[in-house]
Amino acid sequence: MKIIMLGAPGAGKGTQAKMIAEEYHIPHVSTGDMFRMNIKNGTELGMEAKEYMDQGLLVPDELTVRILLDRVKKEDCKDGYVLDGFPRTIPQAEVLEEALNKLGDQIDYAINVEVPDENIIRRMSGRRACLSCGATYHIEHVPPKKEGICDDCGETLVLRDDDKPETVEKRLRVYQEQTQPLIDFYAAKGVLCNVDGTQEMQDVFKAIKEILK
Ligand code: AP5
Ligand code: MG
Repeated sequence: MKIIMLGAPGAGKGTQAKMIAEEYHIPHVSTGDMFRMNIKNGTELGMEAKEYMDQGLLVPDELTVRILLDRVKKEDCKDGYVLDGFPRTIPQAEVLEEALNKLGDQIDYAINVEVPDENIIRRMSGRRACLSCGATYHIEHVPPKKEGICDDCGETLVLRDDDKPETVEKRLRVYQEQTQPLIDFYAAKGVLCNVDGTQEMQDVFKAIKEILK
């Protein structure tokens, strides 16, 4: 099963993608997490990506496509995966489609998590992230057991550099301009499914499971 998560920054793509990955035993592939891991490890790719990410801009397609295609070629992705944060532009979607076509394959579901902008700004300011293992918390909705510490790996949690309100607004604008057109792109392919992302996390997940049944 090959799934794409669509939705604005902070809509809950990562939260739901992790739940899907666990339930259906497929890898969760997040380009944002891969970039943040590279930044943390001080790689050249990480340094280049950081310049764009900190400004709320998209990392250039060329760099993003390379990192994504390398990842989905790995053995653990052969029976499927859930893509979180990729594709984010029409050219990225086209490259993915072409790569899958070559294998006689295609995307099965594009799940669009819908959340209005007002809710998003509130969610992002409360988010805390573990840059080590990619786990995500929220100070009100999903607090860690011990304040400021990741339940899974014990690392210190941080407010992501791009979660400052002014950068979030920029990311929302970039989303509207460059990523929203993917909704029509996948609707035209007959694989688009919309989910109300303002519900409780477990209810959003229930709606997704209904779709994937
Ligand atoms: P990325 O890491 O993909 O960030 P994003 O799309 O901006 O999305 P987020 O991770 O911020 O939000 P999310 O939808 O995963 O929400 P979450 O589940 O955490 O990308 C970061 C940057 O990397 C980009 O800006 C770009 O520069 C670059 N990049 C990445 N991919 C790229 C690509 N393909 N091309 C070019 N550049 C790329 O939830 C948010 C918060 O809300 C959390 O605190 C969570 O606990 C809480 N929450 C979740 N669900 C609910 C709920 N139902 N109710 C209440 N709270 C909830
Ligand atoms: Mg995410």
